[in-house]
Amino acid sequence: AYTWLYQFPLPIPPVKTPLMTITNPVTSNPIDYYEIYINQFTTQVYPGKGPATLVGYDGISPGPTFLMQRGREAVVRFINNATMDNSVHLHGSYSRTPWDGWAEDVTASGQFKDYYYPNSQPARFLWYHDHAIDHTAENAYFGQAGGYILHDPAEDSLGLPSGYGVHDIPLILSAKQYKSDGSLFSPAGETTSLYGDVIHVNGQPWPFFNVEPRKYRLRFLNAAISRTFLLYFQRSTGSSAKIPFQVIASDAGLLTGPAATSELYISMAERYEVVFDFAPFAGQNITLRNTEDVGADIDYLNTDKVMRFVVSGTAVTDTSVVPTTLGNPDFPPNLGSSPTIDHTFDFERTNGEWRINGVGFNDVANRVLANVPRGTVEVWELVNGGGGWSHPIHIHLIDFRVIYRSNADGRTVYNYESQGLKDVVWLAPGETVRVEAHYAPWDGVYMFHCHNLIHEDHEMMAAFNVTALLD
Ligand code: C2O
Ligand code: CU
Repeated sequence: AYTWLYQFPLPIPPVKTPLMTITNPVTSNPIDYYEIYINQFTTQVYPGKGPATLVGYDGISPGPTFLMQRGREAVVRFINNATMDNSVHLHGSYSRTPWDGWAEDVTASGQFKDYYYPNSQPARFLWYHDHAIDHTAENAYFGQAGGYILHDPAEDSLGLPSGYGVHDIPLILSAKQYKSDGSLFSPAGETTSLYGDVIHVNGQPWPFFNVEPRKYRLRFLNAAISRTFLLYFQRSTGSSAKIPFQVIASDAGLLTGPAATSELYISMAERYEVVFDFAPFAGQNITLRNTEDVGADIDYLNTDKVMRFVVSGTAVTDTSVVPTTLGNPDFPPNLGSSPTIDHTFDFERTNGEWRINGVGFNDVANRVLANVPRGTVEVWELVNGGGGWSHPIHIHLIDFRVIYRSNADGRTVYNYESQGLKDVVWLAPGETVRVEAHYAPWDGVYMFHCHNLIHEDHEMMAAFNVTALLD
């Protein structure tokens, strides 16, 4: 078993191209129009066993990558040729409510929906994935997830390693479980978590990737449904020391400056972008490893391994740089060390049910847990209410700053977490965090939830209402 670790190449999802350009009827600005099919397909994933049947975007998983420019609007028609209902969320976009993938706003089999994306936020690594009520875990796990990269001129001018699939590489992590015939074991019947014994990068279990001895930008997305990673890089032979690298961006784009670290927590739906310099390792292999016993996760024989970089022995010229000043995140005001907490949300398991302050998403009359006047800055305290589970918490619409983290291990806010804005924050077992955000730019009712998608499907989801300004 597993003699095929690091034997298959890393797939790079193809770039999605627009079908045509249309005109915004209000502003006359150009809008790129795309069509994407959600369909079932069969593919060989597990070596030596039969093929797996997946349901993904354009017949691949992860789906094709959208490469967008800030200021260029897009309409994407998602055509549902699968049998399941779906709803598409562009995670990381401040989409208006009709296009945010509201869980109950599902598109049935044989129908389509057009989603409008403004692409007016700063450069960042977003992702699109299913958000259908009660079936998100299953749908995302069987393939409905893909990358969406937004560029802007400020970032492009920094001289970071660049070129999609060349020196700027998406690394979409997931963890799944297979049956003995090679088909996917479904998480549909699970009520707590499915950690998965097979680690995939861009859909390939434990791949290898050939690199030059130079700097690369690696865009990590944890698209697993229940597994949190603590990543580190290590030589494949010789010294086992963790190799330092620089984190340059998180969920909402560039950090203020590079954050040096030698290990990186990345929970479900989080994105972290790293610059790793392979120059000192010409002719060697570097393994990307995961740490065992992170959070509440269950580990298996090879869940401490992710992928391998095979570094060429031929020297190359590398003109890319990592400037000491990177982005200029639009931080909310600094409210000092003990700000007023506007809302406290307790993520807990009560009588076998996943709840937020005792409420589940199916409790329609009570599920709006906060009313926030548009434009206000609020501090939310997110509490892991016990039971020994991990909960990565995602708040739609806004970008937040993680201002406080407290746990029994004495871990505080990580350097790579505090220097940028985020839209997901990990609550390890027993942890409390505080996040500060500017509730803007749109009014409307938006979701917030645990991104362990099995918890989300079992009601660990609620809503907040950004109310209109009466001006
Ligand atoms: Cu990535 Cu509400 O989801
Ligand atoms: Cu959870």
